[in-house]
Amino acid sequence: MKLWKKIALVIIAALVIIQFFHPAKNQSTQILATDIVNVYGPIPADVDDILKRACNDCHTNNTRYPWYNNIQPVAWWLDNHVQEGKQHLNFSDFASGKIARQYKRMQDCIEEVKEGGMPLDSYLWIHKDAILTAAEKQKLYAWCNAIRDTIKAKYPDDSLIMPKRPPQQQ
Ligand code: HEC
Repeated sequence: MKLWKKIALVIIAALVIIQFFHPAKNQSTQILATDIVNVYGPIPADVDDILKRACNDCHTNNTRYPWYNNIQPVAWWLDNHVQEGKQHLNFSDFASGKIARQYKRMQDCIEEVKEGGMPLDSYLWIHKDAILTAAEKQKLYAWCNAIRDTIKAKYPDDSLIMPKRPPQQQ
């Protein structure tokens, strides 16, 4: 057999084998006490719609999976985004972090969207409905700022500052 044929066969075999290995889905029906809704109240319907379309797939415990999640290695790639996204910000478990972190995260949401960092570009290629209009962005910012105001009114100023990382040892 020619070498290129052998290589092609190995690749095909590998692709077949990995189809049997799928990461666990990020789909939980349990509403945690630390869910942003439980702590900061119901999300206005228009903002909820924006979050569902543009953010929740990677920033909650409930992802709506596309059909191509059935194909490997795509499922690993998507799972990586979800796990990493949730590590940085998880609306389903929002209030488990320090109050300073929650306060900062709401600011980060505004900044990320303003700078075009979020939603991820790769997500927008397929989810065209996640492209937000200027008016939708303003609604999202207003909601983030309202939560920041709630936090600010409730907690002393020094609890809102993220602790500085200790300086790196040289
Ligand atoms: C396709 C998955 C995906 C979608 C959709 C998505 N994010 Fe993210 N998000 C990530 C990943 C992955 C990270 C961590 C890596 C990074 O910062 O690029 C992240 C990080 C973040 C962070 C933390 C940034 C920091 O400074 O640590 C914020 C805030 C954020 N996203 C907000 C949003 C908002 C708001 C939306 C909706 C408008 C959104 N994301 C949509 C995947 C996603």
